Amino acid sequence: MVQKINTLVFATKNKNKLAEVINILKETGVTICGVEGEFDPEETGATFEENAYIKAFEAAKIMNMPAFGDDSGLVVDALDGRPGVYSSRYAENDKKRIEKLLEELKDVPQKNRTARFICSMAVVNPEGETLFACQGVCEGLIIDSSKGSNGFGYDPIFFIPEKNATMAELTMDEKNTVSHRGKALKKIIEWLLN
Ligand code: IMP
Repeated sequence: MVQKINTLVFATKNKNKLAEVINILKETGVTICGVEGEFDPEETGATFEENAYIKAFEAAKIMNMPAFGDDSGLVVDALDGRPGVYSSRYAENDKKRIEKLLEELKDVPQKNRTARFICSMAVVNPEGETLFACQGVCEGLIIDSSKGSNGFGYDPIFFIPEKNATMAELTMDEKNTVSHRGKALKKIIEWLLN
């Protein structure tokens, strides 16, 4: 008999991500819980996929049940894909990360400031088997100063043409309909429910 999974562990200590994921799952019948105790896996992967696996497997082992992990970041074309997998380690806090990115892009004209948020997700069991993996992408442009105060991370400088707003000007519900994380999570929900 195939066992249906409707509770998953989410392999994160990031409160912003957890809040977004809980918001997306609120009407799906899928519940998630966080990781109990010590959880700080080293993100040694070279890709978003590898890091999502590392986090999910670590959480699945700790909780002894399937877990899903995500790894996400901002890929900027004019910077050859940086900060990419190093998005959270690019500088010491969100404000400095934004300042550093804008400084690096100061001579790049607006039309060449294309970028995308990428989110890889993996569902892994305690034996280390990947049960499902997917990715979500959100295309946008890096503007030259911060706008909006919602969200987190690089949201204030990430402009989404289809919304005519930065990610930080969207409500959480609006962000989740277009975001990389929202799109990846929808694929996980479809997989879980089918
Ligand atoms: P990680 O996935 O926990 O390794 O962190 C990825 C980093 O990418 C975050 O710390 C943010 O700096 C950035 N990031 C990922 N998703 C978002 C988002 O939805 N908005 C803004 N920044 C994000």
